[in-house]
Amino acid sequence: MPGTGHFDKAAKDWDQEDRRVALARAVAAAMRSQASLTRSDSVLDFGCGTGLVTLELAPLAGSITGADTSPGMLAALAAKAPIPRIQLEPDGDGDLGGPYDLIVSSMTLHHVFDVPDLFLRLGRHLKPGGRVALADLDVEDGSFHGGADGVFHLGFQRDRVAAWLREAGFREVRVETACTTTKEGRDYSIFLALGIKD
Ligand SMILES: C[S@@+](CC[C@H](N)C(=O)[O-])C[C@H]1O[C@@H](n2cnc3c(N)ncnc32)[C@H](O)[C@@H]1O
Repeated sequence: MPGTGHFDKAAKDWDQEDRRVALARAVAAAMRSQASLTRSDSVLDFGCGTGLVTLELAPLAGSITGADTSPGMLAALAAKAPIPRIQLEPDGDGDLGGPYDLIVSSMTLHHVFDVPDLFLRLGRHLKPGGRVALADLDVEDGSFHGGADGVFHLGFQRDRVAAWLREAGFREVRVETACTTTKEGRDYSIFLALGIKD
């Protein structure tokens, strides 16, 4: 498993890239409208990074917690707002807390080796009837990350994500388009996968 060094180093300047801020805002807007977020919801942002999505959703939720493997990214979030944080092991292991009403994630699934196993794990940290809203890249040709370490998936096929969620016990699964992001002149579409856990 790669360590957290890449994200620890990137944390300081992460928010300086306008594309990332715009992407997080667009994803958060899609989550807000598609996941029926309310002021009574307890929310976990899995792979929260510097909190770009976390802090967009915070005013709309009852509470929100950020979980991440990178101490540097979590320190950048802590410097911006007193959001509860969960430091995960470098391989992603660790107690996610909860149970939550909603678990969100943006642009983190492609860094997780075993995504079906993650979906089972997320389900264990949701209340009955709890929801997920998970955003990531649709299948791409590898140009988005340019061969960077720690990228296990060059985007995802939507029907595969939907099948993994159903196998993990989620119902009313749907995978929709959240937004498009443009990087170095190329457009990449981002999906939002939604489901409800019994
Ligand atoms: C591309 S960044 C996205 C950050 C944030 N969600 C955003 O939209 O700005 C991916 C984040 O996932 C974290 N990460 C990588 N592997 C992880 C894992 N296995 N479990 C949880 N977080 C992980 C990284 O440290 C990084 O903060």
